[in-house]
Amino acid sequence: MDIITRLDEILREAKSDIEKVSNFEELEKIRVKYLGRKSEITNILKSLGELPKEIRPSAGKKSNLVKNEISKLLENKNAQLEEKIFNELIKKESIDITEPGEKIPIGHMHPITRMRMEVEDIFTSMGFAIMSGPEIELEYYNFEALNIPKDHPARDMQDTIWTEDGNLLRTHTSCVQIRTMEKFKPPIRAIAPGRVFRYEETDASHEHTFYQVEGLMIDRNISVANLIAVMKTMLKEVFKRDVKVRLRPGYFPFVEPGFELDINCLICGGKGCPVCKYSGWVELLPCGMVHPNVLKAGGIDPNEYSGFAFGMGLDRLVMMRYEINDIRLFHSGDLRFLEQF
Ligand code: PHE
Repeated sequence: MDIITRLDEILREAKSDIEKVSNFEELEKIRVKYLGRKSEITNILKSLGELPKEIRPSAGKKSNLVKNEISKLLENKNAQLEEKIFNELIKKESIDITEPGEKIPIGHMHPITRMRMEVEDIFTSMGFAIMSGPEIELEYYNFEALNIPKDHPARDMQDTIWTEDGNLLRTHTSCVQIRTMEKFKPPIRAIAPGRVFRYEETDASHEHTFYQVEGLMIDRNISVANLIAVMKTMLKEVFKRDVKVRLRPGYFPFVEPGFELDINCLICGGKGCPVCKYSGWVELLPCGMVHPNVLKAGGIDPNEYSGFAFGMGLDRLVMMRYEINDIRLFHSGDLRFLEQF
């Protein structure tokens, strides 16, 4: 076989080999096979000098041509492989920014939390500070300092969950009254929202765990008029309308006089309906003037200062606003209920 024919053959073989290549490793092997130091073409080029003079130029030319052609084929194949890999990568790793996102279900704040924050806003705008106290409380702060000594019958008003070491889960937020007085001198304006606990049989209007907001205002010459004014302002903000209030006597050992504050029924406007039991009034919160013994327990001289306190049920407030008829829904974990807010 003459050398020109052989070179053509090499080119054909290389072409078909390169066509079959499917990755860079194979391609490199083919390159070595055809253009490497030990390849046939390299050998031919090296031994051109040994050829007869007449065919030397054409054989040299042909060898270079074939070598260049194979180089070009290898380059093309290399580019093809790169493109193929790139396209696969695009398919695998690309982000289609036009594709609609996957919605991650996120919750929202509990209606009681929202109400708490609203009430906090209203009172801070009136210059009240927000205080907190522990949920596991000393008997002293929950009862004694609030003028409820050990065998006082008023302890029965609040069925208590005791801990084994003689402490208790606070039955109300009134403990924070004392803790606040211990820390600050009058004038005092503070609220204390928080969770409270009772050893309670649950029903539509009773829970073992619920929320209160305690309020406390102490200064010189504080009277029931201040109490009514602050309550009216707060209720107007919460219910977004003017609310009528009335006070009835109510007994709590830590206030004197003590009251139950009623508001006109917001369902019927005071005309009478099943919600207000046809009285036109709804009981909202207990309150009163801070008892001198309580001021003393807090280190405040009752001859110089007076104050009022109230204890508002946050759950109740939410129930009134949304006309919820069962307090147990709040912590039922029933999303059908919660998703309405
Ligand atoms: N701490 C009382 C209760 O939970 C409510 C209250 C607070 C009454 C402040 C009067 C003044 O029952």
